[in-house]
Amino acid sequence: MRFAEMGKEELQSLYDSLMTEYVGYKQQGLQLNMSRGKPAPEQLDLCAGVNECPTDFICEDGTDVRNYGVLDGIPEAKRLFGEIFGMPASNVIVGGSSSLNMMYDTVCRAYLHGVLPDSKPWSQQGKIKFLCPTPGYDRHFLITQSFGIEMIPVPMTEDGPDMDIIERLVADDEKIKGIWCVPMYSNPDGITYSDETVRRFAALKTAADDFRIFWDNAYCVHHLDLNDRDYLLNLYNECLKHGTEDKFYTFASTSKITMAGSGICAMAMSQANYDWTIKQLSIQTICHDNVNQLRHSRYLPNLAAIEQLMAKHAYFIKPKFQVVLNALAEKIKPYGIAHWHNPKGGYFISFFTMDGCAKRVVALCKEAGVELTAAGATYPYGNDPHDSNIRIAPTFPSLEELQKTMDIFCVAVKIATLEKLLHK
Ligand SMILES: Cc1ncc(COP(=O)(O)O)c(C=O)c1O
Repeated sequence: MRFAEMGKEELQSLYDSLMTEYVGYKQQGLQLNMSRGKPAPEQLDLCAGVNECPTDFICEDGTDVRNYGVLDGIPEAKRLFGEIFGMPASNVIVGGSSSLNMMYDTVCRAYLHGVLPDSKPWSQQGKIKFLCPTPGYDRHFLITQSFGIEMIPVPMTEDGPDMDIIERLVADDEKIKGIWCVPMYSNPDGITYSDETVRRFAALKTAADDFRIFWDNAYCVHHLDLNDRDYLLNLYNECLKHGTEDKFYTFASTSKITMAGSGICAMAMSQANYDWTIKQLSIQTICHDNVNQLRHSRYLPNLAAIEQLMAKHAYFIKPKFQVVLNALAEKIKPYGIAHWHNPKGGYFISFFTMDGCAKRVVALCKEAGVELTAAGATYPYGNDPHDSNIRIAPTFPSLEELQKTMDIFCVAVKIATLEKLLHK
């Protein structure tokens, strides 16, 4: 029965019995963790073959990858990411192992040197701002925060960030220089931007010439089921129709395809952005880890090979999402006290408690030995104005651990909600 339909006494007696259950969990001295958005060990074992390539160190244009050279990436790795991004390989720069690092460097370059040769550095334009679709990825927000860039939250909808708000804000304010986007299976909501949203991004009229969309396509191949997956419209193709292709950078990596700490990453962009980026990158480094690029591109020569590997990841991940979603459907849904997303891919489930309960849920879980992502982490400055969102990361724990974790989580959600309703 929904809490809203229950009398005070009924709520109190439910609270008492939940507390007994909760104390029982506490006494078990558990150590569980549902905060880590990383692959489980069995997923890492899937790509053992990466380490067996290559044997000759010579890539397809004859370059010996053990030596210096090829700053923008070896041809086969550029082609692979070109296919992933749906962009020409010539517009791709393949980097080291971390796309987050590339995003940081891209903000840093814009901040210190401007986005194009004739643009003023962001650092010389006073207080600048960034739009942050929320809930979002905490590490994006930390990058902009570290540069002192003011962050403006924009609510997510089922179609992506609220485009009415974005269009209105960027049209008038030339201090707004960019936006963080995870357009496919967003972190944490698992929402894929609708075609209409992508089209509106491509057509965005910004007061600032040096506005940039940071299109972090981290989860573009991370479907839970290839037969029931989302599709994302290609932003580059849409931008070409409007002549706005300088307005975005896109990023991805193999972190959650092969090895999270030892994969390869890439960014792609317009020719003008590419030329300027390469010019500055050539001062920063001579080349990236081309041996790793060759290993990866031999193991994963094309998108089809990636999709085959991702189906194996899904074999492990999908049942874990199912454990979480089943527990929520059984133990929370009947009470009408929360809502959540049911994603078709990505790494997270985004859970919304009744306003003012998320921090308490996380604290209750912690006391019972369950680590969750800090409440508020999915908002700029760690401030969730509704204290409602919790990011659930089901991939790392085992199925058994996850089951136990969800038992405790659901009890904690009900207790926190009852405390609120009973003014405890
Ligand atoms: C949206 C998003 N972007 C980027 C990353 C990190 O990517 P990388 O390992 O390539 O730095 C993550 C990791 O969780 C993520 O969720």
